Amino acid sequence: MIAVKNLQKSFGKLEILKGIDLQIHKGEVVVVIGPSGSGKSTFLRCLNLLEQPTGGEITFEGASITDKRHDINVTREKMGMVFQQFNLFPHKTVLQNIMLAPLKVKKQQPAEAEKIALELLQTVGLADKRDAYPAQLSGGQ
Ligand SMILES: Nc1ncnc2c1ncn2[C@@H]1O[C@H](COP(=O)(O)OP(=O)(O)OP(=O)(O)O)[C@@H](O)[C@H]1O
Ligand SMILES: [Mg+2]
Repeated sequence: MIAVKNLQKSFGKLEILKGIDLQIHKGEVVVVIGPSGSGKSTFLRCLNLLEQPTGGEITFEGASITDKRHDINVTREKMGMVFQQFNLFPHKTVLQNIMLAPLKVKKQQPAEAEKIALELLQTVGLADKRDAYPAQLSGGQ
């Protein structure tokens, strides 16, 4: 599903990723562990081009996303990312935050998007927070 070849990323003279090779298969669960500042987030951000790699190649479902001609937004529609900092919209409720991408990007019908969002909230025990704003939640919530 994801193939990474000789991935490199530098910030100026600071070399962070020095040739990462990795393959991830569909359904596989992969954990990236390392000291703070070692480049875990940088690596994840490279996978959907939130960071532009300095070198190497990333392939997603057979398409080379590091190819200049590739439309990354098409690939991003299929990639989820939970940020280290939350990046929730502060003026939208929990439910509205969850529904935003399905509505705007996936063009789901509002009723369908709400149903799925409520199921997801139920799964993580946060159904009662559906109308709360991010500032009213704890860090974990
Ligand atoms: N935009 C940037 N400009 C310059 N240096 C950066 C930038 N982003 C990250 N770095 C540096 O790259 C290195 C890797 O950062 P990264 O955020 O990938 O670490 P991490 O492994 O996710 O750490 P943590 O466990 O603390 O989340 C750090 O030394 C950091 O200071
Ligand atoms: Mg990090």
